[in-house]
Amino acid sequence: MRICLIGSSGQLGRHLQDAAGERGFVIQALARQDLELGDEIAVREVLKRCLPFDLLVNAAAYTKVDLAEEQVDEAFAANSRGPEYLAAFCRNHDLPLIHVSTDYVFDGQKQSPYLPADRCSPVGVYGKSKAEGERRVLSGHAKAIILRCSWLFSKYGNNFVKTMLRLGREREKLTVVDDQVGCPTCAGDLAGAILDMAVTVVEPGFHKWGIYHFCNAGSTTWYRMACRIFETARRLCSLRVREVEPVSSDQYPSPVRRPPYSVLDCSATEDVFGIKSRPWQEALEEVVTWLCSDKAC
Ligand SMILES: NC(=O)c1ccc[n+]([C@@H]2O[C@H](COP(=O)([O-])OP(=O)(O)OC[C@H]3O[C@@H](n4cnc5c(N)ncnc54)[C@H](OP(=O)(O)O)[C@@H]3O)[C@@H](O)[C@H]2O)c1
Repeated sequence: MRICLIGSSGQLGRHLQDAAGERGFVIQALARQDLELGDEIAVREVLKRCLPFDLLVNAAAYTKVDLAEEQVDEAFAANSRGPEYLAAFCRNHDLPLIHVSTDYVFDGQKQSPYLPADRCSPVGVYGKSKAEGERRVLSGHAKAIILRCSWLFSKYGNNFVKTMLRLGREREKLTVVDDQVGCPTCAGDLAGAILDMAVTVVEPGFHKWGIYHFCNAGSTTWYRMACRIFETARRLCSLRVREVEPVSSDQYPSPVRRPPYSVLDCSATEDVFGIKSRPWQEALEEVVTWLCSDKAC
């Protein structure tokens, strides 16, 4: 299998390279310095030079949720126009496309897990740009998979787990939001799921294109996730933090409201691709253990 990967230096992109290497897949890895997604001509020219490949995976995105409120054009270039150009390239070369998206396409007002077919109603610029990207990909190419995920964490990049471990070493007291419910997702597990999907979608008879969800099993709040991080880390390294206080989103200054509830229903992913995810606690323990080990230094 030959995969062309966009966004190779992000946290998911790095896990995709690791996982592809373990499976013996050939990866053409493109970071931002190789390909600027907002540049339509560059997308066409750079991807043409990467041919032949069997599948395109887009793990690149503008992911700064707060800053997106100011950098609207940059967010839409990476998250809407770029994916549209990728879809057009894939359509013209009859190649499958897996495009990664987010739970932030929902407003979080639902009281039960979001299904792939639920209506998008994003609240901030980031969510709006990702929802528009999904729409453009699906209308631009019949052979596309949109894979939504949520609350990514991993040993790579910037994420909540790494921030909590840093703050837990620096401070005695922390406040963490306790009124947003979601599904933490290990970027390594997501990478494995994407490669499992890749194997299925390159089969000539595959026809179940469309939107799917993947996250680790179970749901929690940021506060409960933080407590779990510290519980595990305390056994492995020294922390300064003694008190973690739950607070509401109103007490946490942010230019944009996050969805209060963004649990994703992943049953279609299991039914169609046979992909079953493990509990978030198990994946979290693995990542925290790695981050507290000598390997992380
Ligand atoms: N992180 C989360 O919690 C989360 C949650 C739900 C869904 N997702 C989705 O999961 C996917 C992967 O997220 P991630 O956390 O791995 O993201 P990430 O670590 O922020 O990586 C994103 C990558 O995209 C690149 N990029 C940004 N703008 C670009 C542009 N205009 N042209 C080309 N490359 C560009 C970035 O390069 P530079 O760093 O050089 O700019 C970076 O390497 C994204 O689709 C994201 O929307 C993430």
